[in-house]
Amino acid sequence: MSYTNSLLICQARLVLPNGEFMVGDVLIQGGKIAEVASTIPNATSSPEIDAQGLTLLPGVIDPQVHFREPGLEHKEDLFTASCACAKGGVTSFLEMPNTKPLTTNQAALDDKLQRAASKCVVNYGFFIGATADNLQDLLSVQPTSGIKIFMGSMHGDLLVDQETTLENIFAHGSRLIAVHAEDQERIKQRRQEFAGISDPAIHSQIQDNTAALLATQLALKLSKKYQRRLHILHLSTAEEAELLRVDKPSWVTAEVTPQHLMLNTDAYKTIGTLAQMNPPLRSPHDNEVLWQALRDGVIDFIATDHAPHTLEEKGKTYPNTPSGMPGVETSLPLMLTAAMEGKCTVAQVVNWMSKAVATAYGIPNKGEITPGYDADLVLVDLDNYKPVRNEEMLTKCGWSSFEGWNLTGWPVTTIVGGEVVYDKGKVNTQVRGQALQFI
Ligand code: DOR
Repeated sequence: MSYTNSLLICQARLVLPNGEFMVGDVLIQGGKIAEVASTIPNATSSPEIDAQGLTLLPGVIDPQVHFREPGLEHKEDLFTASCACAKGGVTSFLEMPNTKPLTTNQAALDDKLQRAASKCVVNYGFFIGATADNLQDLLSVQPTSGIKIFMGSMHGDLLVDQETTLENIFAHGSRLIAVHAEDQERIKQRRQEFAGISDPAIHSQIQDNTAALLATQLALKLSKKYQRRLHILHLSTAEEAELLRVDKPSWVTAEVTPQHLMLNTDAYKTIGTLAQMNPPLRSPHDNEVLWQALRDGVIDFIATDHAPHTLEEKGKTYPNTPSGMPGVETSLPLMLTAAMEGKCTVAQVVNWMSKAVATAYGIPNKGEITPGYDADLVLVDLDNYKPVRNEEMLTKCGWSSFEGWNLTGWPVTTIVGGEVVYDKGKVNTQVRGQALQFI
């Protein structure tokens, strides 16, 4: 890809790194932000984007997605998922290892990197998955955003639920460990207790708040014992948030998904198994406590856990239905709509969806509109409301749990490395993202 092109974004409402706003121009040269000022003369006759009335944000970095390639491409693949990202203003993603084969060694990671280089229209990074016996791989593979441990909610080799095995991973090496924190033993017991119930609402009772709390407590204990960098993925309960409020070492971070903030167990009544995910949706009380924890900095950032399944798979009868819902196309409008409703500020959304993620994962030069930073940007329209429509989804699964929600802050134009990758409904499929670096 050539990065010689320049581009001038004119008269956008910009979110500056200090959270303040200004109306101004942004000059992009060689894939980087070259200048930010109230007006910039177009000395090199660069193509211009008239951004009057629109708001320019750093591109979203989504730090937890499941894009299904290789092996599960009937649900999604790196091309369709990255197009959905471009439409959603997501300019970089970190993808999880539960593909086929599992991403548990250098060869599998290299394969994903190669596939992504050939077909991803946004930037990409990948986790390495922990198994009971791949410690050497966990220590050596490069480049990776970190080690993913499924403490529960997973079958097969990626499940690491024994404390001695977990401790061995925490005790060796220093790279970030990201945990899916649910206690497998408790889930197993409760599955038996509630066997035979096909109402998907039972999912939230089987994999209950205690199952999540027990696993988070264990991960926190091991992280403190070894002072090991820990990230808690999709934190979902009030209990876990309150635990972190009183006991969160400086090397621990946590994320929450838009669905755990905005959907709760009431959703089973309206959308049935489309509300089924792991960790499950919780109560309205949990929603409120999670919002407060996010605003207070107890929870550091937002991830979607984009986990597409086909409607046919979701149409089976619980418990034969897979858990997970897509998210990359709706996360930014959902959060910006919440900001417009006064739940938080636009500057907080920018921090939670860009800057804080870049900081936590050591991704250099991303997450700010600052000269020298990568030109990964999204122009959004905060003045128009439009409903989420399944038929407009670019994710291969073709549905959203938020179908019908009237949202604002939809991306108008998305820019990756200085190239326009999405503009007013159209993806430029010629653009290619780059492999993320982690320092
Ligand atoms: O609901 C979920 N589905 N949660 C996960 O963590 C995994 C995901 C999937 O891959 O389907």
